[in-house]
Amino acid sequence: MKHLLSIESLSRDEIHVILDLAARMKSMRGRLDKHPLRHQCWALMFSKSSTRTRVSFEVGIRELGGDVFFLAADDIQLGRGEPIADTARVLGRMCHGAVIRTFAQSDVEDFAKFSGIPTVNALTDDEHPCQILADLQTIVERLGNFAGRVVTFIGDGACNVPRSWLWAASKLDFELRIAAPAQFQPDAATIARAFPGAQKREGCFENAKGGRLIVTDDLDEAARGADVLYTDVWVSMGKEEEAQFRKTQLARYQINNELLALAKPGALVMHCLPAYRGLEITADVFEANADTIFTQAENRLHAQKAVLAMLAE
Ligand code: CP
Ligand code: NVA
Repeated sequence: MKHLLSIESLSRDEIHVILDLAARMKSMRGRLDKHPLRHQCWALMFSKSSTRTRVSFEVGIRELGGDVFFLAADDIQLGRGEPIADTARVLGRMCHGAVIRTFAQSDVEDFAKFSGIPTVNALTDDEHPCQILADLQTIVERLGNFAGRVVTFIGDGACNVPRSWLWAASKLDFELRIAAPAQFQPDAATIARAFPGAQKREGCFENAKGGRLIVTDDLDEAARGADVLYTDVWVSMGKEEEAQFRKTQLARYQINNELLALAKPGALVMHCLPAYRGLEITADVFEANADTIFTQAENRLHAQKAVLAMLAE
């Protein structure tokens, strides 16, 4: 694995290898005798805010023996219009790897191409691969596996987090249900790419491995019998101008106790964070499930250390 640019570009086997190594990184934290990033210096270059991603990469790179520095994209010449390809060619001559949070997926891909150094997507408008790897790790820890499970995403089904979930469902063997109003559902072209040749039967796309995707505006049906209810903010970074429209359109698409009662008894409630209580999730459901939600956040560290160690090989 040369880069982590998306879940789309990972194979099923690579996902399993990352998750196995992530479990080992977690159980061996502080006791690893190998430091695969020793004598390396990594750049974090972010154009959007971050708490979890920034901290988990800064800690993770150091724990693997590397050094790291943070660049707010607006503070460097990139923010004044220097092309991403030129920025990449500079960093590629000085750094050993880069972790990038930005808007366009093509910027992360161009950076990887022009820098020639291992590049990690730390969130774009299209995907948030590190988040979904940590989420899968959390599901395995809590439920024993994800095979055959039903994961229901509720809210803005067209943003980066559900899009990465969609790609995970296209490669693995669980059922993903995305419950969102029509204008916040994943686009048909992405679904067609993720489930090529799949016949839509009764609103369901399937892959050969048993992975399934259901996209619906029927919130209750999507939640019924689910093993996991998952949500993300209604207003993603970069969509602030649409905040009022989104809050109106998505108002029903909330994880609350009534919805949770439809899921399987003991279902996990998950949130990638940051959370807005009273919007995509109620405060009581959030607090009752805080241990799972903050374990997701913690697992960002372990899953990303696994990715970094693989990139350093
Ligand atoms: N979930 C997540 O990526 O959080 P941050 O935006 O705080 O990094
Ligand atoms: N969809 C959210 C994820 C935040 C981690 C956003 O892009 O803002």
